[in-house]
Amino acid sequence: MQTISIIGGTGSLGSGLAWRFAQAGNKVIIGSRDAERAAETATDINRKLGKDLAQGMDNDAAAAAGDIIVLTIKFNHQKSTLAQLHDAVQGKIVVDTTVPLVPPKVARVQLPPEGSAGLITQQLLGENVQVVSAFQNIAADSLPGDAPITCDVLVTGDSKDAREAVIQIARASGMRAWHAGPLANSVAAEAMTSLLIHLNKQFPGAHTGIKITGIPD
Ligand SMILES: NC(=O)c1ccc[n+]([C@@H]2O[C@H](COP(=O)([O-])OP(=O)(O)OC[C@H]3O[C@@H](n4cnc5c(N)ncnc54)[C@H](OP(=O)(O)O)[C@@H]3O)[C@@H](O)[C@H]2O)c1
Repeated sequence: MQTISIIGGTGSLGSGLAWRFAQAGNKVIIGSRDAERAAETATDINRKLGKDLAQGMDNDAAAAAGDIIVLTIKFNHQKSTLAQLHDAVQGKIVVDTTVPLVPPKVARVQLPPEGSAGLITQQLLGENVQVVSAFQNIAADSLPGDAPITCDVLVTGDSKDAREAVIQIARASGMRAWHAGPLANSVAAEAMTSLLIHLNKQFPGAHTGIKITGIPD
């Protein structure tokens, strides 16, 4: 059984993905700067699940223990967190969910000079890490509970095998996920999130998402 470690797994997106991944039968490690906080999130998931598939650790231990590492921290903490975890994730798949939002104008697309947060992650971790970018368009609020996930997942990355591994995890967790090309294409998914935030502001309570159409059954 593969182990998925979620760095920043106590947060909105991280804990929601952890729940869905554990529901799909994956062993999940919640990473946090505080191992106790991580353990609390893991305990909540296990209680809801009725099984012990989640465990809490500090981010360093989580990165070392996982086969696949999912990064769910805010853009302004991306560089410092990746510097800390650089050595522990060499040779692994790292899934970047970061949207490069620049507060306060989060409903405006403001991409970094490097192109995208996914490309920054690849630059910082180096070529021995297979960076895959995904989950930017899923509203974290749609993940707790058992309601069907209606937002599609665009999965980009330069390794087809690594992309495929992430697509399989997403599909097993109830999401429609698609190979969306090389990591350079992560710019599109990251930019789309600001548009979704803009739409959410127009419809209070909405958790907008995206859906790819036109693919035959
Ligand atoms: N929320 C969404 O709907 C959504 C949707 C798609 C993508 N995303 C992306 O997912 C990422 C996480 O968003 P979120 O809304 O889940 O954020 P969040 O709720 O704030 O969670 C992020 C986690 O980061 C950790 N953290 C806080 N300060 C930190 C620091 N200085 N250094 C390292 N880690 C720190 C915290 O965990 P500990 O305090 O336990 O360490 C926190 O639980 C963002 O890049 C966001 O753009 C979010």
